[in-house]
Amino acid sequence: MPVIFAKAPGKIILFGEHAVVYDQPAIAIPVHKVKATARVIPNLEGQPGEVRIQAADIQLDAALSDLAEDHPLAIAARMGLKAASVDRPPSFTLQISSTIPISAGMGSSAAIAIAIIRALADFFGVPLSVDKISSLAYEVEKFQHGTPSGIDNNVIAHQQPVFFVRNQPIETLTIEQPTHWVIADSGEKTPTRETVSDVRKLYDSDPTTCGDHFRQIGEITRNARESLIKGEITRLGQLMDQNQRLLESIGVSSPTLEHLIIAAKDAGAVGAKLSGGGRGGNIIALSTADNMERIETALLNAGGQRVITTILNKGRR
Ligand code: MEV
Repeated sequence: MPVIFAKAPGKIILFGEHAVVYDQPAIAIPVHKVKATARVIPNLEGQPGEVRIQAADIQLDAALSDLAEDHPLAIAARMGLKAASVDRPPSFTLQISSTIPISAGMGSSAAIAIAIIRALADFFGVPLSVDKISSLAYEVEKFQHGTPSGIDNNVIAHQQPVFFVRNQPIETLTIEQPTHWVIADSGEKTPTRETVSDVRKLYDSDPTTCGDHFRQIGEITRNARESLIKGEITRLGQLMDQNQRLLESIGVSSPTLEHLIIAAKDAGAVGAKLSGGGRGGNIIALSTADNMERIETALLNAGGQRVITTILNKGRR
């Protein structure tokens, strides 16, 4: 049996985080510059059923059977084996690595789960549809994040820009004009569970105002859909700024994120907002084609820990 390897990209939310939990739409795109990789290496000397998991990034080298039931890598590996209908696999080692920042809103956990599930399905020759891979990864995500909306597993499994509404069929977007993006990691971990729970409390205490904020975010996201496809950056930038103000209103921004957003705007960003759970993690800025480097430098000078530029190209990827 040959060595099999599979990878999955990171992701970034452009519009609609938090409101997506309340059935409003969100838009996210894959980020191919960062990725999770899973490698399945047959172990010819091993006994059937012996599976080793190695993840050098977190100094893990253990038998699958020794990992706790709720270990995220073990959950994904067991899910992959189950989907491949393998009870007692031939011995193999599963090596996992990732360049996706952790707890930064870039979908690291979903990407790792998807890389593992894909690698195992390929290794055992069991074809799995993209939707099936996405729904298996969602099950893994639920163990780690409670009840996530499902946007991460969908955009990463499809590896395409998506217009996502919870519990509805996924819509992938075919881009007609490229757009240029600069992503900056604040260096502070985003406490997504906490911000999602705080937003829930805010909603429960004032459903009218908070529900109205979600509806406005939903409207912004619906308007952004066409502008993103057509590359209408002035309009997109305005929509990002409006979305950011609403995210501030529901209490998920932070002084560090706002400092980075101002730095990006001062350097000529067309629009900028936080991305993901907030109170840490990333901001995303929209740039003209020739200004990415300036925004990148400004964000690093303003304390951004890591800056990633990405171009959303024409076509489906
Ligand atoms: C977190 O990356 C995005 C949120 O909308 C939560 C979710 O969609 O599950 C805050």
